[in-house]
Amino acid sequence: MGKLENKVAIITGSTKGIGKTIAKRFLEEGAKVVITSSNQHNVDNAVSEFASDKIFGLACNVVNYEEVEHLIQQTVEKFGALDIMINNAGVAEPFKRIVDADLDAWYKPIDVNIKGTYHGCRAALKYFLDQNRQGKVINLAGAGILKNNTPYFSAYGSSKAAIYRMTFALAEEYKNTGIDIMLMNPGLVRTEILSVHNPTPELQKRMDVFDKIQDIFSQSPMVAANLTVKMCSDWGNGKNGKFYDAFSSTKKRLLLFSYPFRKLFNKIDRTAY
Ligand SMILES: NC(=O)c1ccc[n+]([C@@H]2O[C@H](COP(=O)([O-])OP(=O)(O)OC[C@H]3O[C@@H](n4cnc5c(N)ncnc54)[C@H](OP(=O)(O)O)[C@@H]3O)[C@@H](O)[C@H]2O)c1
Repeated sequence: MGKLENKVAIITGSTKGIGKTIAKRFLEEGAKVVITSSNQHNVDNAVSEFASDKIFGLACNVVNYEEVEHLIQQTVEKFGALDIMINNAGVAEPFKRIVDADLDAWYKPIDVNIKGTYHGCRAALKYFLDQNRQGKVINLAGAGILKNNTPYFSAYGSSKAAIYRMTFALAEEYKNTGIDIMLMNPGLVRTEILSVHNPTPELQKRMDVFDKIQDIFSQSPMVAANLTVKMCSDWGNGKNGKFYDAFSSTKKRLLLFSYPFRKLFNKIDRTAY
């Protein structure tokens, strides 16, 4: 029996990258999973790859609250309930100094990451409370939390700092309700979120340095997916207000010390997830 047998989970932004890997692991653990992103074509592709009657796909732009509420309504209609909400959808660009970034581009991570996470939390909490059900809400951390500075991607960093605060504020507000609201940091994973469109020569130089950093520190999204399974299993019951990190300082040290050996034996993982 899987660790998430018959649990119903929505994973926003699950058509690629970390969200898709979490969806795969959830399915393996017996969950019923809703695949969603802002793009219907991407949703259809991901759903057809999974080819399982425990998968349901629906496009939902998390910036729009009505779409998130509709997603939950449709999930309940399809699978009978909702147990787990993973607010994973995210964007990171622009990678520019604050004065060089267009206003609308700078607002995008604020809209998708902060509003999107807030919408997912609000709609899921409303559902759990109305139905008097236990549930789990997992928000995604990232660079910008704690002491990480994020020069050249200040919108993303600001958004993740806000998600950090939002998660713990909500955890306080809903303590003792049987709903566990937690934060998860997936660590550095080579996904599309890290790609830069039309870089200036100056930015390209920075990206070349960042590429080397990724060689050292990036890891498979499976690490974050396994951690998310654990957080959403019975193990996570009562862990409201906790932060779990797939990129702990021990992990960082291990990746750093193993780097020369991985390089020597041609074992640097450059897979794009
Ligand atoms: N990769 C890393 O190193 C890293 C590190 C720390 C934290 N994280 C966090 O992990 C999460 C997943 O990132 P990832 O690396 O897997 O990125 P990714 O591969 O680019 O995936 C992002 C997902 O979000 C979806 N999305 C974007 N805008 C959306 C919107 N408005 N509404 C709904 N879905 C939307 C994308 O699909 P569509 O484009 O089809 O909408 C896609 O499915 C993010 O919250 C990110 O901040 C990543």
